[in-house]
Amino acid sequence: MTIVLATPGSDGLDAAVVALREWQSDAAPRQLHPGDVGWFWQLGAQATAAAVRTWSRDGRILAVGLLDGPGLLRITTAPETRRDRELARSVIADVIEPGRGVLPEGAVDVEAPPDALILDQLLEAGWVAGEPWTPLHRDLTEPVPPPAGRIEVVDADRVADRVEVQRAAFGGSSFTTQRWQAMAAGSLYRDARCLIAYADSGAAAAIVTVWSAGPGKPGLLEPLGVHPDHRRRGHGTAITVAAAAALRELGASSAFVCTPSGNLGAVPTYVSAGFQPHAEVRDAHRPG
Ligand SMILES: CC(C)(COP(=O)(O)OP(=O)(O)OC[C@H]1O[C@@H](n2cnc3c(N)ncnc32)[C@H](O)[C@@H]1OP(=O)(O)O)[C@@H](O)C(=O)NCCC(=O)NCCS
Repeated sequence: MTIVLATPGSDGLDAAVVALREWQSDAAPRQLHPGDVGWFWQLGAQATAAAVRTWSRDGRILAVGLLDGPGLLRITTAPETRRDRELARSVIADVIEPGRGVLPEGAVDVEAPPDALILDQLLEAGWVAGEPWTPLHRDLTEPVPPPAGRIEVVDADRVADRVEVQRAAFGGSSFTTQRWQAMAAGSLYRDARCLIAYADSGAAAAIVTVWSAGPGKPGLLEPLGVHPDHRRRGHGTAITVAAAAALRELGASSAFVCTPSGNLGAVPTYVSAGFQPHAEVRDAHRPG
């Protein structure tokens, strides 16, 4: 039996997303999530389909990857194949060989679940560990207390505020109203919500988008940001609590987020909102 690499395109994208949903687990929340694909959808349906790769054996999808920017492959696998040698060998051959349509030559990164053989083997092949990231996770069995301040769900009337805060919070952001509309028109947004927090002055202060992977599965916060004019006033904590509550309403069993450990504000903000940090994780990096 051989492992077959494919770009599933628009027709096959649903099957890749179904696999991603199925693989999400509270026991191993750090992995590519349907919400990562949903957030990518701001670039349009065609670009999203073109950025996804699947690896299958006997017609069954065993791994799904998202080319999430130039030189970055984010990949996860069916849980029982994390240590599958044949799968790891095939994925690595496809990743290393520039002609295979996965990654270009030069400096590249691969994100994979921390227990994936793919990561171990890339490091054995001379790749190096990338910067540390901190996964954080909040159980949603119990109801979430109401967040402080005024928080609204983003509808058509609030898209301009949503976009403004995104652009202010993330320097170099290329987010636009058109991108928000493309994302919201995507099939994955049916399981998502954008929330926005307003300061007492009425100014838009903080945003988050949350993505459910279905009932009983961990949901994802991606992205979350506070306008620089409104930081250190509790809006980050409040919108994180609201995000957890929204995910609980969507049926998620827990809320998950991952942030660079060097992002000094992010880890305490998530901890303040009841998230627990897990052991740091690192991508595998091939220097240019
Ligand atoms: C990280 C971010 C969301 C924090 O928002 P915020 O509104 O300033 O956070 P809060 O005021 O609710 O503060 C929450 C906690 O974090 C701490 N904190 C916030 N910014 C901090 C910083 N730069 N350094 C150290 N601690 C910080 C606060 O002291 C507070 O701690 P406490 O609850 O123990 O008192 C905001 O800085 C931001 O949007 N950054 C850019 C985008 C980003 O990094 N998003 C998260 C990526 S996953």
